[in-house]
Amino acid sequence: MTDAPADGLVLVARTDELAPGRTKKFLLPCGGSEIEAFVVNHDGSFHAYVNRCCHIPMSMDWVENQFLTEDGAYIQCATHGALYDPTSGQCLAGPPLGQRLTVVPVVVRDGLIWAGCPTDD
Ligand code: FES
Repeated sequence: MTDAPADGLVLVARTDELAPGRTKKFLLPCGGSEIEAFVVNHDGSFHAYVNRCCHIPMSMDWVENQFLTEDGAYIQCATHGALYDPTSGQCLAGPPLGQRLTVVPVVVRDGLIWAGCPTDD
């Protein structure tokens, strides 16, 4: 069993199962309930967000685990096409322009990706 790098972190993926341009959904136990979130490998760096659009609070992957535009440059909400920066979660185009996805903090250590509960929700 691998110890978490800090209290409250949950193991969500191995880095070698998430090549650049890939995403993975996971459930995060926070405050007595579970939050659906996803982690994205964008050009070798890992970022995670709550799976909830800033426009209408609904999941963004109409097709299961499909969060990115075809070229992998942006996170895209499947409902109305909002585009988000994968490194910050900032909405760059679409109805929630200027708003930001809820960031899920991640720690990458020894080939493992750990996530903690969001603090800005
Ligand atoms: S619900 Fe995501 S852009 Fe409208």
